[in-house]
Amino acid sequence: MKKIAMLTGGGDCPGLNAVIRGVTRRALAEGWEVVGFRNGWAGVIKNDSFPIDRARVAGILHLGGTILGTSRTNPTDEQLDLIANNLKAAGVTVLVAIGGDDTLSVASRIHKRGVPVVGVPKTIDNDIAGTDQTFGFDTAVNIATEAIDRLHTTAEAHSRVLVVEIMGRQAGWIALYSGIAGGADVVLLPEFPQTLDSICEIIKKRQANGKNFSIVAVAEGFKLEGEKEVLQTDKLDAFGHVRLGGVAERLCKLIEDKTGIESRSVVLGHTQRGGTPTAYDRVLSTRYGVKAAELAISGQTGKLVSLRGQDVIGVDLDPLITQVIDKKTGKPKMRMGNRSVSKELYDLAKVFFG
Ligand code: F6P
Repeated sequence: MKKIAMLTGGGDCPGLNAVIRGVTRRALAEGWEVVGFRNGWAGVIKNDSFPIDRARVAGILHLGGTILGTSRTNPTDEQLDLIANNLKAAGVTVLVAIGGDDTLSVASRIHKRGVPVVGVPKTIDNDIAGTDQTFGFDTAVNIATEAIDRLHTTAEAHSRVLVVEIMGRQAGWIALYSGIAGGADVVLLPEFPQTLDSICEIIKKRQANGKNFSIVAVAEGFKLEGEKEVLQTDKLDAFGHVRLGGVAERLCKLIEDKTGIESRSVVLGHTQRGGTPTAYDRVLSTRYGVKAAELAISGQTGKLVSLRGQDVIGVDLDPLITQVIDKKTGKPKMRMGNRSVSKELYDLAKVFFG
């Protein structure tokens, strides 16, 4: 019997369970067996899997998190060999890797070793190359938008500046969309460093126009011009990422000092990743899961499931891999490409600054 295996890797994201259900239902309908590896690549290294049947995916469509568990495990070259051997020994026909740029980079490495793989693009950050949108993004945008709506009333009541820190490590998609949707007065993204003066100027201008409060939506990866990101710790994770955090608090102090307006900061953090996915994300995740199973069943591997316009298609994984410098070793390495906010889109947000 043919067998699909699945794993979820990297930070969790609303819609993971909907993808798992989509893959499972489509594969079972074709008479394939389905298994799940626990906790991302760690599960394949340890050969830790369990069978998934229709009952196991019943009632999970609307649930956040992942029934498979997840981890940020970055396999060494030797572990990649072990992964290939373990998948073969377990009789896996195709592996569906559901994850962000890190997980998909590993998927491409094992595909190069002859393992049939299909990737599904996951991240609330929405910054994966090759697809118009990742699942989980819409949910995060809705959570951040609701937060901005709520911050408006308290900011206005107290005549304060409220600086809200929104997830987005390298790309500011969530801050951009929720900033536009929530009517933030300033939106700050990793892609477009700004000076403190230019930020304070907008706030002072609002004040001069009779607006006694301002909302600043800042992505966690934003940098003041000439500065680096604000870090919680510079310890690197398995994939060479620093842990960001604190940019809202830092800006809040600087803005209060410079403008003399009382200011507060709020960090939305993991609330943006937890809980139930929106209807849009449930549908997108379901489409991704079903498409991943269909690609696997028809033998089209080495593909990433991708939203292009209104269509969900399979695109080649390899051309999406680019060379970057590994922060840990300082050496070049190959990894999944990223997708940034364009200047045109940022200019749209700027129309509403002030
Ligand atoms: O990549 C998704 C993301 O939510 C980023 O926006 C954030 O910087 C990171 O994951 C935080 O992940 P964790 O706290 O799980 O290490």
